[in-house]
Amino acid sequence: MNVIVFASRKGGSGKSTLAAHLAAHAHKTLKSCLLVDADPQGSLSLWQRLRGTGEPPIKTAVRSVGEIVAAAKRDGYEWVFIDTPPTIAAVVDDAIRHATLVVIPARPGVFDIDAVVETISTCRSARKPYAVVMNGAPARRDDVESPLVTIARESLAKMRAPVWGGQVTNRANYVLALSHGEGAREYDPDSRAASEIGRLWAAIERSVKAIRGTASANGAMHRQAA
Ligand SMILES: Nc1ncnc2c1ncn2[C@@H]1O[C@H](COP(=O)(O)OP(=O)(O)OP(=O)(O)O)[C@@H](O)[C@H]1O
Ligand SMILES: [Mg+2]
Repeated sequence: MNVIVFASRKGGSGKSTLAAHLAAHAHKTLKSCLLVDADPQGSLSLWQRLRGTGEPPIKTAVRSVGEIVAAAKRDGYEWVFIDTPPTIAAVVDDAIRHATLVVIPARPGVFDIDAVVETISTCRSARKPYAVVMNGAPARRDDVESPLVTIARESLAKMRAPVWGGQVTNRANYVLALSHGEGAREYDPDSRAASEIGRLWAAIERSVKAIRGTASANGAMHRQAA
């Protein structure tokens, strides 16, 4: 079983957004996903209610995720997606301790990039693989990345933080899909948002295979924290 944890001390970086879109994307094919909402704000729970299907199932975690993760394993789930709050809460550290891979969403701004340091250091102390994912990025023009994203990547490279090579662009479709209780692919399968989430999911699957030792780390987006 693989546990993907979305964590960042920066509010509004996109933890709940990426958790919901990736879970919807994965659930469509795998049908073996569990959501865990560890944030009292309840964004992921709201989205799951808006879906109205009860799928993927969701559990709420208050102080720890250990029992939920253990039960999910017994129940045969393949993937668990844990959304966490932007606070210094014990549940965030606990979720990271249970992670197969920690996804740290970051918007490409100087304050946003600076704020990932703390989450990275938690991942490093827990010796957990992690990767930063650029979210809310300006659209690429003529397939060229915005200077804002390039500068953000340079800052992250100085921190020796592993970063996904792609980006999740700032798009209304991401918000519209969520307000319908859907993921990007369900909302519009031919959209750019759907293909970005598909690419991010493929990168996560590659990383998890490398972490599990069933594939080489070539092309994986994470770094094994040591
Ligand atoms: N790629 C995107 N394009 C457009 N809007 C986005 C994108 N990512 C996030 N948003 C919007 O930004 C806001 C913050 O996103 P989200 O709630 O996912 O962040 P968060 O990290 O979970 O925040 P918190 O720390 O408060 O839990 C939301 O209104 C969301 O719809
Ligand atoms: Mg959130």
